[in-house]
Amino acid sequence: MPKPLFAAPLLLLTLAPFAASAAPLAPTIIGGEQSPQGAYPWMAAVVVHGGNAYLTQYCGATLIHPRWALTAAHCFLDLNGHLNPQLAVDLVIGRSDLWYGSDGVRVESVGAQIYPGFSLYTMDGDLALVELAQPVTSQGVLRLLGPSAIDGTLPAAGSSALALGWGDTNISSLVESYPSSLYQVTLPVVASQVCGPTVAGLPITDNMLCAGLAAGGKDTCQGDSGGPLLVQGERGEWLQAGITSFGEGCAEPNEYGVYTRVANFTSWISDTICSSEERPAATQLNVTLSGNHATATLPAASGANGYRLYYAPWPQMSPVGFIDLYEQTSFAIDLPAGSGWYAAVMPYNDNCLGPLSNIETIQVP
Ligand code: ARG
Repeated sequence: MPKPLFAAPLLLLTLAPFAASAAPLAPTIIGGEQSPQGAYPWMAAVVVHGGNAYLTQYCGATLIHPRWALTAAHCFLDLNGHLNPQLAVDLVIGRSDLWYGSDGVRVESVGAQIYPGFSLYTMDGDLALVELAQPVTSQGVLRLLGPSAIDGTLPAAGSSALALGWGDTNISSLVESYPSSLYQVTLPVVASQVCGPTVAGLPITDNMLCAGLAAGGKDTCQGDSGGPLLVQGERGEWLQAGITSFGEGCAEPNEYGVYTRVANFTSWISDTICSSEERPAATQLNVTLSGNHATATLPAASGANGYRLYYAPWPQMSPVGFIDLYEQTSFAIDLPAGSGWYAAVMPYNDNCLGPLSNIETIQVP
């Protein structure tokens, strides 16, 4: 069903910074497939307040806390091309079909927190947090790929990622055919040197990541902005690695989609959306060595539903890596003889982060 043109003003204004390079009303998820119903209960559509969910959807978002959704900053551009955190929008959460469906929940936004470092001219820091009028507890929350201590390296190039969005699925058709149901496409993450140094004339910064195929044919596109680029954790769970931000055209050969690198913003997000009661208390890391066998234990932190173990080689302290311990409070590993390490642990309560523990130094004999 073609989306009537009165949905166009909002779509066009999201294009404003790229008017010279992107075709107006270009299609959205290209080369993908329909998402299985109910697979992404925290996936949200940003729609005009009070408007029809299908006809006025213009961005994607994700529920990352019962009261907050994550989207792109440029989804809060108003009709004058100004950022307006008070833009009157609703979020439709957990409904795969925006026309035929009535599942999921629709909530009004009470305003957005646009990332203070966002620049419309560079597109750096393209993220915003949408505050909901009522908490939504029926959809679960999507966890973010963290943590911010590992700036610029997550997700690794070569990771397989999944983008979600609503919109035209046919780039070559003159008449856009916007699906009412959610679409998904699998895309490899590529190194910034592969897609850069610039995309659509904008430098690729450490706060951005690229995904796509050299051959083209698979991509996100206008209207998918604000939606997630997902990777899978050790237990197969979805983690948000990116936010659809911009590109040069869509699905073209040797061009890649550009996404906000979520891992660089997890501290700002936690600070903005979490009350002090929602943040876990501190924990203490104890490491014991028996030969080259290291055992890390920590007392459970109150309010935590998981822990991340950070590690870095001694003495240079870089690069920093991490292991998600999930709910486990002990962890054992065989380390190479003669190696040295730093380790510390950060408790989390979904996307609310606790303080970093003491840093342990480990010298393997
Ligand atoms: N800026 C677009 C939007 O507002 C997203 C563009 C993504 N482009 C791409 N080629 N991946 O919806």
